[in-house]
Amino acid sequence: MFDVRTEPCHASAYLARAAVTAPSPYNTQPWIFVAEEGDRGVEVHADSARRLPLADPSGREVVISCGAALFNIRLAMLHLGFNPVVEHFPRPADPAFLARVAWGAYQRPSPEDERLFGALRRRHTVRGPFLAEPLPPSLVEDLHQHAHRAGATLDFVADRAGRRHLAELVRIAEDAHRTRPEYAAEHKRWTWWSGEPRCDGIPVDADVTHPDVTVFAGRDYAGLTRMFPAPAQRRPSRTGPVAILSTDRDDPAAWLRTGEALQRILLEAADHGVMAAFHTQPLEVPSLRVRIRQTLSGGAFPQMIFRLGYPPCLRPLPRRPVAEVLRTPGDGLT
Ligand SMILES: Cc1cc2nc3c(=O)[nH]c(=O)nc-3n(C[C@H](O)[C@H](O)[C@H](O)COP(=O)(O)O)c2cc1C
Repeated sequence: MFDVRTEPCHASAYLARAAVTAPSPYNTQPWIFVAEEGDRGVEVHADSARRLPLADPSGREVVISCGAALFNIRLAMLHLGFNPVVEHFPRPADPAFLARVAWGAYQRPSPEDERLFGALRRRHTVRGPFLAEPLPPSLVEDLHQHAHRAGATLDFVADRAGRRHLAELVRIAEDAHRTRPEYAAEHKRWTWWSGEPRCDGIPVDADVTHPDVTVFAGRDYAGLTRMFPAPAQRRPSRTGPVAILSTDRDDPAAWLRTGEALQRILLEAADHGVMAAFHTQPLEVPSLRVRIRQTLSGGAFPQMIFRLGYPPCLRPLPRRPVAEVLRTPGDGLT
């Protein structure tokens, strides 16, 4: 295996370090990168061993996460002054081989590239209420445009009835997660207490906010609702605007595109100090996903659901070391 400690200047290691800051469900980090011979480029592969078998049987969320990592690789290359040459699904017979990014011609990074690159390590997922401050309308408009340019659609669910309906669907899905025993094993594999540190998964005692504080039910990582069925205080006014990111197709190419669009949106928001809180539970239940598609996303396939706002505090989650996720062609992928 490639050892970054002995080859600290390896260009692919630099790209992988940027890639792993991407979000992934339960912080599963379901990716493998391969440094191509002679550092000609880097490959992005899905790591299906890290897929959530119940929540993500098709691997949709794995590919979305890898798409976000791919966006980071492109950004890191731009930051270094090279135009990334991206090939999606370069070996059709191998669906886990999602993309290859080669070093293109020299190109001075634009101020926008530098801005987004600077936001990479400032972006974190939020759980719970936001501050009361509203988002700047120009940011909301910009996010729409970025999603559109990346081949996806971002819809803010602005009307009361729509928000209530979406909150109900999140609630139904989240209740299933909390009560159905089959989800417990999945939950257990990817959550841990801070006394047993890991570099993936969610440290459950990191966040003691009750998951039902806002209008949209959060994932109950710490099992708080078993001890406290209702939160001491509700903060509906701190929920923030909620958005659905969708695509016109529902195949691996669309999922990869979703991940790239998502990361573009998240970094733009983070550059303004705005973070996302995700509520993707109903997209993991086929019948609820169909209802969202029919009633809220205008027939497009809903891929992500998130609230946006200014966070009261941030908690960076750990990442696997680059030496663990970056391979050389001879290493094999298992
Ligand atoms: C496809 C996808 C689905 C996600 N769904 C949720 C969710 O429903 N609830 C949640 O709290 N976080 C969700 N997340 C965010 C992850 O929990 C988060 O990215 C991960 O824990 C790493 O933390 P970070 O984003 O702060 O680096 C999701 C992320 C992705 C990419």
